[in-house]
Amino acid sequence: MAKVSPRFVCQDCGAVTTRWVGKCESCGAWNSIAEEAAREEVPKGLSGGKGKRIEFVGLEGSSAPLPRMATGIGELDRVCGGGLVPGSCLLVGGDPGIGKSTLLLQAAAGLSAKEAVAYISGEEAVDQVRMRAGRLGHAKARVALATATSLRDILASLDGPEAPRVVVIDSIQTVYADNIESAPGTVSQVRACAAELIRLAKRRGFVLFLVGHVTKDGQIAGPRVLEHMVDTVLYFEGDRGHQFRILRAVKNRFGATDEIGVFEMTDKGLAEVANPSALFLAERRGNVSGSCVFAGMEGTRPMLVEIQALVAPSSLSSPRRAVVGWDTNRLSMVLAVLDARCGLALSGNDVYLNVAGGLRIAEPAADLAVAAALVSSASDVPVAADMVVFGEIGLSGEVRAVAQADTRLKEAAKLGFAQALVPARPRKDKGGAGGGAGSPLAIRSIGHLQDVLELFRRD
Ligand code: TYD
Ligand code: MG
Repeated sequence: MAKVSPRFVCQDCGAVTTRWVGKCESCGAWNSIAEEAAREEVPKGLSGGKGKRIEFVGLEGSSAPLPRMATGIGELDRVCGGGLVPGSCLLVGGDPGIGKSTLLLQAAAGLSAKEAVAYISGEEAVDQVRMRAGRLGHAKARVALATATSLRDILASLDGPEAPRVVVIDSIQTVYADNIESAPGTVSQVRACAAELIRLAKRRGFVLFLVGHVTKDGQIAGPRVLEHMVDTVLYFEGDRGHQFRILRAVKNRFGATDEIGVFEMTDKGLAEVANPSALFLAERRGNVSGSCVFAGMEGTRPMLVEIQALVAPSSLSSPRRAVVGWDTNRLSMVLAVLDARCGLALSGNDVYLNVAGGLRIAEPAADLAVAAALVSSASDVPVAADMVVFGEIGLSGEVRAVAQADTRLKEAAKLGFAQALVPARPRKDKGGAGGGAGSPLAIRSIGHLQDVLELFRRD
């Protein structure tokens, strides 16, 4: 028998190490490593017997592709690439409480008008789901509802000629396989359960929705360990303090990944937002000085955030510098450059900087947006409400190009913005065309921070 040695698995990305470490070397997550029961990794059965020849076929088939199913939620259909493909598996990830169950219950209700739909909850009791359905106005929808967590029971119930056409598993982290020692929610459990469910979905041709919670503390496995197994990965994002939610396709085998769906959380569930810019601009309370929208990137994902600055006269000998959501040192640098290179001295002022929505920005690309917010607040001239800003600031005051300018501009255009304040020179690296060529936005190129001061000069 193979020697069983302990296995330490990152609950975020699934990387395996032989010892416990505080920070995952693969994905950089802190405190996400947990010990799991070791599995025998030796493939069985390869020693004896001969494989059978596989049949190759041409790319062009004779059977017509199955039509896509519409969920009745336009934003969701669009993010999925125009409806659901039969036999496909979709992973819906997001923070707890963001609205995943609400979205999928609404989708299930919409689909149940035409298809047989099963909703299996491992988190809520039947009555709770019914209550929610009632609130959403879907109490009469023909959705088959069950609470179950045993993989064996779920597979047995779904494997048959009368299998439903759409199955929702809420959430994959509550499902457990009794032949695996690890606790429910660990990487081994989540992976094994998802693999079995996906196999069944492909065989029976039903659409499988898996809900996956994103966790920061690493107690349960994040959806990232499943991303490679499923056809489509959707992330549901937003701040619980705000009512807007964004559904984003991170991976899609049946459509583009640059689509986003925007929803608003109301007391009757999630409402589609036809004009996202209206929602975002409404949050900004019109033309207020010191507020600026930064077109940022979170990993490969573009994200627009509002940066707010308040510059106020100070009575303190060493004025306050309070920063929420950004790097204090970076703020000091921008203030120093404004002072030394542009002659805007704020050393006698308190400076408050806030990234609205509770986000934390790490990108240097936010420099220009921060500077614009600061200058706007100091001069009391608002930044145009339909303008996005991005660019890195150098110590001599030059504005430097940043990566993925086109992606940022595309996202801004999609969210209804009309102008962009961007670095003058495009970045010369591959893919960083920048400069806004061909962009639907009106581009204002900035070469030096001094130009920003000109822009917000009070006439
Ligand atoms: P939920 O779908 O349970 O989140 P998840 O499944 O991602 O954990 O959403 C719960 C939140 O949504 C909760 O804070 C209440 C809010 N909500 C509404 O505001 N209106 C509604 O009609 C519903 C059903 C939920
Ligand atoms: Mg839920």
